[in-house]
Amino acid sequence: MHRLLAISGSLRRQAYSKAILAALADANAARARFDYADIGELPLFNQDLYVEPLPEAVARFRRQIAEADALVIASPEYNHGMPGVLKNALDWASRPHNGSPLKNKPVLIVTSSPAVTGGVRAQYQIRETLVSALARPVNTPEIVVGQVGAKIVDGRFVDTATIDFALGGFATMFEAIAAK
Ligand SMILES: Cc1cc2nc3c(=O)[nH]c(=O)nc-3n(C[C@H](O)[C@H](O)[C@H](O)COP(=O)(O)O)c2cc1C
Repeated sequence: MHRLLAISGSLRRQAYSKAILAALADANAARARFDYADIGELPLFNQDLYVEPLPEAVARFRRQIAEADALVIASPEYNHGMPGVLKNALDWASRPHNGSPLKNKPVLIVTSSPAVTGGVRAQYQIRETLVSALARPVNTPEIVVGQVGAKIVDGRFVDTATIDFALGGFATMFEAIAAK
């Protein structure tokens, strides 16, 4: 069983991003165990706080990343970019640059939006930040979910076409884990 750390770029209780992560966890139940990060408890990044002992939430988040075989990020797009809470979390995980928990970590990115664009601009920011942190974002397929509201029924993400498409990304990610 692969150990995956799921990160929602939205803190909203009923976030579509969380529903997508839950559906992906179900679809991969035979292959992977999902743990969930709570990036809402992280303080705002401040380099003055990046000293031992790290703030407890930061230490926990970084440990969760280190212990995971790979990460799955599902996020909305805010103002044509990634949500600040997600950038904050990735900044906390990104130090020291050449030895951070993100280094060489395979990461699958899923963005979603009620618009047809599916959060694709946020996806590129997330990808670029991960490249900067020396992580290994899955390059193909790029999973963007447009008109996400229509794909949620009773709080559950039910779009089987997207889930099947995303499974191709998981297959690539599992190969990257095996090659490490
Ligand atoms: C501050 C803010 C900015 C937003 N900007 C965009 C945007 O630039 N592009 C877009 O497609 N949707 C935008 N949206 C809509 C979000 O995609 C939508 O609220 C989405 O459902 C939030 O994701 P969640 O369900 O995971 O919380 C924005 C929403 C908020 C709250």
